[in-house]
Amino acid sequence: MHIDPLEKKWMYVIGIMTLVMVGSMTYAAVVMNMHPPSNVETIDPKTLHLSGEFTEDNLGVTENPDGTLTVRMVAARYSFYPQMVEVPVDTRVTFRITSPDIVHGVHVPFTNYTTMVVPGYVAEVNTTFQKTGDFSLLCNEYCGLGHDHMWSRLKVVDKAGS
Ligand code: CUA
Repeated sequence: MHIDPLEKKWMYVIGIMTLVMVGSMTYAAVVMNMHPPSNVETIDPKTLHLSGEFTEDNLGVTENPDGTLTVRMVAARYSFYPQMVEVPVDTRVTFRITSPDIVHGVHVPFTNYTTMVVPGYVAEVNTTFQKTGDFSLLCNEYCGLGHDHMWSRLKVVDKAGS
């Protein structure tokens, strides 16, 4: 079978590109612990504020009996509630977040915390922050004119008593 030399060259280029892409995805999954969120849990977006897990009183950080933390948040046009979350470093944190209006996203740069927030579903992300500091929670799905201003603070502090 005859293959034109130029075509052959491009076959190698595509082969290398494929290896780089599959390699970087494998690296991100195995070494950096980045996985697509797999939680499928539905909720009625119309009654979030009235009853259940995401009423105003229930938002924020809760400590679980095993020492891990759960952070409940609502992403709504154009903010995250609560607007400031403080968690200790080196502690397993489960973020549970949902939206009462339209699709938003959450992304904390330099961490593996990133997910879409789809109304009708609870997005859940488990993470452990390894560095203290002030981080921003940013909306990374275009959600309207206020999208650029939709962000909130995440403070990672030293563990209490250490
Ligand atoms: Cu919310 Cu963009």
